[in-house]
Amino acid sequence: DETLKIRASLLQWYYDNQRLLPWRINHHDDDENDAQGQASDARAYAVWVSEVMLQQTRVLTVVDYYNRWMDKWPTLHHLALASQEEVNEMWAGLGYYRRARFLLEGAKMIVEGGGEFPKTISALREVRGIGDYTAGAIASIAFKEAVPVIDGNVVRVIARLKAISKNPKESKTIKSFWKLAGQLVDPCRPGDFNQALMELGATICTPLSPSCIACPVSDQCCALSVSRHHRSVQVTDY
Ligand code: ADE
Repeated sequence: DETLKIRASLLQWYYDNQRLLPWRINHHDDDENDAQGQASDARAYAVWVSEVMLQQTRVLTVVDYYNRWMDKWPTLHHLALASQEEVNEMWAGLGYYRRARFLLEGAKMIVEGGGEFPKTISALREVRGIGDYTAGAIASIAFKEAVPVIDGNVVRVIARLKAISKNPKESKTIKSFWKLAGQLVDPCRPGDFNQALMELGATICTPLSPSCIACPVSDQCCALSVSRHHRSVQVTDY
């Protein structure tokens, strides 16, 4: 059905086109060295740092900051020993220093609790500073939990796929998007699927001039279909 087609086309597009970003290295299925969950904990830390940096900052800017951060604090345990001043210094230029404070506080909280990363979206939500978005990203990308991740890009992609023209700023609407995205997410590869949706929204399904011709899910897109049947409707209306 449509959901299966969307998953297959989107994942294939992502594997062919994903940007090579430092936090994606070793993100392939390396479950063999995952016996004690160490590989996935390291991945969770990398995803956490990168996703927090990516909130409100462009990917290209984040890459340098991410590499410097990981050189200085390669693991959660290194970070937990840092001072607020060191972290702020490292964050200088990224803005929204609250994000950096939450990373440090969260790292201390996890290390004080024994050092093992929380492994489900609900356990992750308990960590100071980890909200729905970050919890969903870590749970799906690092721990393969089939939960959605919703940011502005994903809301737009789903609104277009399903031709939903409700105000995306309303909390009721956001809730319905979490539900829709939860039904859409690929249960076998939730992390890749979520990143594919974000990447599609950032590069193809853009707000003002989407490249529908290059879109892997244009055949499944209700907004595009409607726009073909009604001259007055455009994909960008959604
Ligand atoms: N934007 C924020 N996080 C992202 C991710 N993991 N992949 C692609 N785009 C993103």
